[in-house]
Amino acid sequence: MCGIVGYVGPKNAVPLLIEGLKRLEYRGYDSAGVAVRQADGALAILKRVGRLSNLEEALDATPVAGGLGIGHTRWATHGEPSEINSHPHLDGSGRIAVVHNGIIENYLALRAELEAKGHVFRSQTDTEVIPHLIEEILKGGGKSRLEAIREALRSARGAYALGIVFRDEPDALYAARCGSPLIVGVGDGEQFIASDVPAILNRVNKVIYLNDGEVAELRPAGVAVSKLDGTPAAPEIKAVTLKAEAAERAGFETFMLKEIHEQPRVLRTLLDAHVRKDGSVDLGEASALLEAQAQNAQRVLILSCGTAHYAGMYGRLLIERWADIPCETDLGSEFRYRQPRLPERTLAIAVSQSGETADTLASVRLAREMGCKVVSICNVPGSTLLRESDAALLTQAGPEIGVASTKAFTAQLMAFALLAIRLGRLRGALDEKRERELTAELARIPDYIHRVLDRQDDIRAISQKYYECFNALYLGRRFNYPIALEGALKNKEISYQHAEGYAAGEMKHGPIALINELLPVVCLCTPTADEVRDKMVSNLKEVEARKGRIVAVVAEGDESLRGLAQDVIPVPETIEELSPLVNVVALQLFAYHNAKARGADIDKPRNLAKSVTVE
Ligand code: F6R
Repeated sequence: MCGIVGYVGPKNAVPLLIEGLKRLEYRGYDSAGVAVRQADGALAILKRVGRLSNLEEALDATPVAGGLGIGHTRWATHGEPSEINSHPHLDGSGRIAVVHNGIIENYLALRAELEAKGHVFRSQTDTEVIPHLIEEILKGGGKSRLEAIREALRSARGAYALGIVFRDEPDALYAARCGSPLIVGVGDGEQFIASDVPAILNRVNKVIYLNDGEVAELRPAGVAVSKLDGTPAAPEIKAVTLKAEAAERAGFETFMLKEIHEQPRVLRTLLDAHVRKDGSVDLGEASALLEAQAQNAQRVLILSCGTAHYAGMYGRLLIERWADIPCETDLGSEFRYRQPRLPERTLAIAVSQSGETADTLASVRLAREMGCKVVSICNVPGSTLLRESDAALLTQAGPEIGVASTKAFTAQLMAFALLAIRLGRLRGALDEKRERELTAELARIPDYIHRVLDRQDDIRAISQKYYECFNALYLGRRFNYPIALEGALKNKEISYQHAEGYAAGEMKHGPIALINELLPVVCLCTPTADEVRDKMVSNLKEVEARKGRIVAVVAEGDESLRGLAQDVIPVPETIEELSPLVNVVALQLFAYHNAKARGADIDKPRNLAKSVTVE
């Protein structure tokens, strides 16, 4: 939610800020703005509602330039998207400009105090209190700008990543972090800040991940980091290993389509990292904790939100089946408020692409307070979740820029498969032979996904028959029930076609009332032989009897449903436990082409943002 960039150095900041904001637009896109300290001493502020391209046009019409600047792309929390509410925000004198990601929870109290002292606020945002607070502290005299920032932040409660510039200090950029992500890009004679590494790829190859409660002072010659109480911090400088192409569309029409096509490679990378030549699973950094927990843990608890929650539901089935340990899942937003009761020895697994989802983080903190050890399945190195976990399994999917999750999801499924196999081995629930069989089948999944991708034209043609429908129902059973939920979520979030995912057996308990000749019912019918397959066919018959239009995902070579379904999408057959990894790709493509036919802005669905850092 909200993207931040900043630059201080000898170059013109404006193109660098715009380049960074373009790469961060997935974090929010209802308005954008920049503040640039110009050579004539003025602090130029330019903001526009809507997409970043509107700001670019404004900058073309009114060029500004300077070696110090901050930029912001917004996902509105406090105050509607408008120029007044867009960032950067200024103090009363117009000398201090601030960009912010997060929420200052006590802003109303701070604002009232400042108003009582004569400050006049222009916006409805929480952010605006920050420049006013700094202004008020500096008015008192005797404090440096850095000290004033620290003092202001000591009285702010909530979450923030901040970029701050002063009109009267042309060679210093300040940054601070508490609960929202922020990195410093360390250059040679120039420095950057950004919400995320992709924003400054190409520009630096070293970064500092700021910790909560740290403030950075960036000058062209170097970076100093201190804590809110003024004590110096010793930041760790890390090399950037990502390639710039990872944040480009690489010839695809959208990031989402590129990311769908990256899945075979992503899964291969994960397998190469964690399956040894002899077919055994090695979870690397997470091994020690799992070894200690495998026998000890009485229960596994999976915490996550959204798509990651569906991956968690899948993980639960695998862990119960392969590792023979009771497992439950909960949504981060529910777990934290439900007064959970956990067995003493519970192992928590947190799943998050971004590692910054506020509800997932809050639930992890609660689980830790309750004595759980936490393993995270996460895609973003250096993220808050990774820092707050006892061990991690990195999904290594690379930056996911399309707002709707695709490759990160399949990587989460694969990570769960690896983790469940390892836990199963450690607990004696799987023998060596079964482990080898399972990893051999896992190794085939990337090729199976390639075969689904090769059917893209057929899937597009099928989606063209249904894209004008108002509703769609997705049905699956057992391992494919979470995939029905994910398929429906993907469809509704990018196409705005209302879609419901249901456990097929539940259909007769309510949603069957929706079925008529206008309703497409997408049914997950692989593999051809398992104990729930016959039940699934019975559900299809129930749909047929009510004239629903069935789109069945079936195993290649399975002709048995052709008479029943209006359309079939054949996919390679694998074991039931791994079929979700293959089936979901067909549903991603179905949703994608549905959304395209409906004219949606696929990479930036309305109202959404990639990383949900507010509750
Ligand atoms: C949907 C989607 C969201 C996220 C959810 C959690 O396509 O991407 O539902 O899965 O917001 O995000 P992370 O995984 O970053 O915790």
